[in-house]
Amino acid sequence: MTSAITINHEELLAAARDVAHHAYVPYSGFPVGAALIDSEGTITTGCNVENAAYGEAICAERNAVTSMVARFGYRQIVAVAIVGLKAAPCWPCGACRQVLREFNCGAVIVEDSEHQPLSLDFEEILPNSFGPDALEQE
Ligand code: THU
Repeated sequence: MTSAITINHEELLAAARDVAHHAYVPYSGFPVGAALIDSEGTITTGCNVENAAYGEAICAERNAVTSMVARFGYRQIVAVAIVGLKAAPCWPCGACRQVLREFNCGAVIVEDSEHQPLSLDFEEILPNSFGPDALEQE
């Protein structure tokens, strides 16, 4: 799908880095921030939030996606940037890829090992994916 939204890679990565400082990570010590831009050009951020019941941790990307839906009701992610304060690049986990897929994410932006922006089409990180369209087939 084409989009009229301009993606500023540096700006989106900076927003992801900023929110990573809010991460609640007493168990892993691995702060992550995500910033997504939607079809209206609004940026929504999220960080990872862990729990003493380890399995209840939420990743930064899913935190950002659920915030976008709850705050604005948007359904279309143009791009998401992800920053891990302890690792570059910090790729989204499998569960987050599937959740981003639900909202038609177009591109994923991470920092390479030299902290330069690296942008991939979403199809490259989750090829042949399952999505809402499959449920519409007879
Ligand atoms: N984490 C994320 O927030 N996003 C990812 O895509 C990968 C992993 C978090 C989960 C956990 O709080 C910490 O990083 C270590 O796995």
